[in-house]
Amino acid sequence: MKNPVGPAILVTGANRGLGFAFVQELSKLSFVDHIFACCRTPSKANALTELAENNSKIHILKLDVENDDDLKEAVQKVEKVLNGKGLNVLINNAAMLTESGAEYKNADRKILQQHMSVNIVGPICIASAFLHLLQKDSDKEKPSLIVNISSDCGSVKDAIHVGSAWGNIAYGITKAGLNQYTRYMSMNESNNHIVTISMHPGWLRTDMGTSSAPLAVEEGANSVIETLQKITINDNGRFMDRHGKDMNF
Ligand SMILES: NC(=O)c1ccc[n+]([C@@H]2O[C@H](COP(=O)([O-])OP(=O)(O)OC[C@H]3O[C@@H](n4cnc5c(N)ncnc54)[C@H](OP(=O)(O)O)[C@@H]3O)[C@@H](O)[C@H]2O)c1
Repeated sequence: MKNPVGPAILVTGANRGLGFAFVQELSKLSFVDHIFACCRTPSKANALTELAENNSKIHILKLDVENDDDLKEAVQKVEKVLNGKGLNVLINNAAMLTESGAEYKNADRKILQQHMSVNIVGPICIASAFLHLLQKDSDKEKPSLIVNISSDCGSVKDAIHVGSAWGNIAYGITKAGLNQYTRYMSMNESNNHIVTISMHPGWLRTDMGTSSAPLAVEEGANSVIETLQKITINDNGRFMDRHGKDMNF
């Protein structure tokens, strides 16, 4: 089995938090040639821009996961850079979690719909648009990966123990939906040697995770990347933590 991570990787939500840490850590790996670092407002992505200035592997792309025009343009730009080669890894990382408006007692239709749109519809449309590139260079020995960044909040079985941040129920519902999507993709794309997994990265100190989280974001990113390098076709459809341990659906 070959290391499935690289040479070409795409990360959504790459301007801050875990997405930025992924780009930072992936850019240090010698076998990674291209990192497509997607964010919705490149002009405001200062840290990412600075990182890319010192590392020619990093290509910053504008991609609001709710915007089809952005998606179309991003696919064209990735195709141009790859010049006939395939994409090896798609990390569906961008997501949202609001502090209010998504509680069961205070349900705001717009806020609920936005969680669905960003956290489920976005990853589905992005994987769909990049599928031809993910299929291109994948084989049994080196499958392409779709990594859906999920959460322990997305476990239906453990919902009672895990609870919900700020009483936001939309977030966990969307991550459970994302996990279901992982299962569908793992069935539908296994013949094309595409492995789809859901991964809980741990509770991390980011804007979403807050400063109360026990783990530094770099630690989370590094252990996810380490685990991804050991993924094989046998892992297709799994929901795992950042060390590769099974999580309950
Ligand atoms: N932090 C944790 O403890 C934790 C735990 C479990 C799972 N996770 C998961 O890990 C992933 C990263 O979380 P994080 O902690 O890094 O969150 P974060 O600090 O809040 O960052 C969220 C990222 O998603 C982007 N994003 C939001 N809406 C978007 C849209 N419509 N289009 C494109 N990008 C959009 C944000 O971009 P803008 O800057 O433009 O808003 C930002 O880059 C998420 O999937 C999250 O659910 C995190």
